[in-house]
Amino acid sequence: MILITGGAGFIGSNLTNFFISKGSDVTVFDNLSSGRMENLNASIGRKNFKFIKGDIRDSETVDSAMKGVEEVYHLAADPSVKDSATNPGVSFSINVSGTFSVLEAARKNDVKKVVFTSTSTVYGEAEVLPTPENYPLIPISNYAASKVADEAYISSYASTYGIKGVVLRLANIFGSPSTHGVMFDFYKKLKTNPKKLEILGNGKQCKSYLYISDCVDALFLASRKQKNIFDFFNVGSGQMENVNYIANTMCSFLKVKPKFEYTGGTRGWKGDVVKMLLDTKKIEKLGWRKKVSLKDGIRKYVEWLEATQ
Ligand SMILES: NC(=O)c1ccc[n+]([C@@H]2O[C@H](COP(=O)([O-])OP(=O)(O)OC[C@H]3O[C@@H](n4cnc5c(N)ncnc54)[C@H](O)[C@@H]3O)[C@@H](O)[C@H]2O)c1
Repeated sequence: MILITGGAGFIGSNLTNFFISKGSDVTVFDNLSSGRMENLNASIGRKNFKFIKGDIRDSETVDSAMKGVEEVYHLAADPSVKDSATNPGVSFSINVSGTFSVLEAARKNDVKKVVFTSTSTVYGEAEVLPTPENYPLIPISNYAASKVADEAYISSYASTYGIKGVVLRLANIFGSPSTHGVMFDFYKKLKTNPKKLEILGNGKQCKSYLYISDCVDALFLASRKQKNIFDFFNVGSGQMENVNYIANTMCSFLKVKPKFEYTGGTRGWKGDVVKMLLDTKKIEKLGWRKKVSLKDGIRKYVEWLEATQ
């Protein structure tokens, strides 16, 4: 049995629908703070699917959800860098205390493996690009700091209690049914006013974006193939593009020609890492390969946005 925390969210629902379609038994644990049941339409009603509404900080509920579970994919988190600056206590409570309660429940219930979605932002403003996994972790946001703490606990629980830990440090993931991130922001703004597009910062922030199906493949493959009791892998596209490129590509698919207006400064927001490219050789050695190009991914995402928003 697989437990997916945050399974009603963007990445979690794609992962859940993937496992359910393969016939695996999956329980989703989510408080629906940002996740939505409709993301799970492909799984709801299937015999191998179960949903528990609960908060990962509520240790009793997490503990009872963990009965009979062999493998946990722990995705529930507050994923906003911006919010972690304005509300540091909230991101600490959900991301650090919440992860601790998930690990404790895993320990008490003899769970064999915890797969964790960490982030490229753990490296902070890395001077080496593409950044390899052994680069020092120097976070510049509270969100990234919370994920570093989580990685440290997962490593410790692996070594102390023998719970296998697999950490995936994800680049920017995009695709349906995401309703956050730069592409969604641009889409909403362009639908409100196709003549003008406000871009946070100077548009030169340059990052790596990976399409959701490639991310799901990476989570599955790393979980199945990696042999060590604890290990960590970058997951990214091997390609970095600036925000202006994302804006131009979206505009061309939406057939609009807005005037770009920049809010100024080099960062989009506090804690924004302006250059990010991950070295992905380590996960490629396990057999993972990116399958969807950035342009094709944006096209698919825009098609979904047009059909649903
Ligand atoms: N999307 C990205 O580009 C990206 C990049 C790096 C890492 N990640 C990580 O991947 C994971 C999933 O991200 P996402 O983009 O799908 O975000 P998301 O917000 O769509 O999903 C998070 C899910 O967790 C649930 N949740 C939040 N707090 C909870 C709590 N206290 N108890 C139970 N459930 C709770 C939400 O309802 C939601 O369904 C997160 O851990 C995030 O930090 C995402």
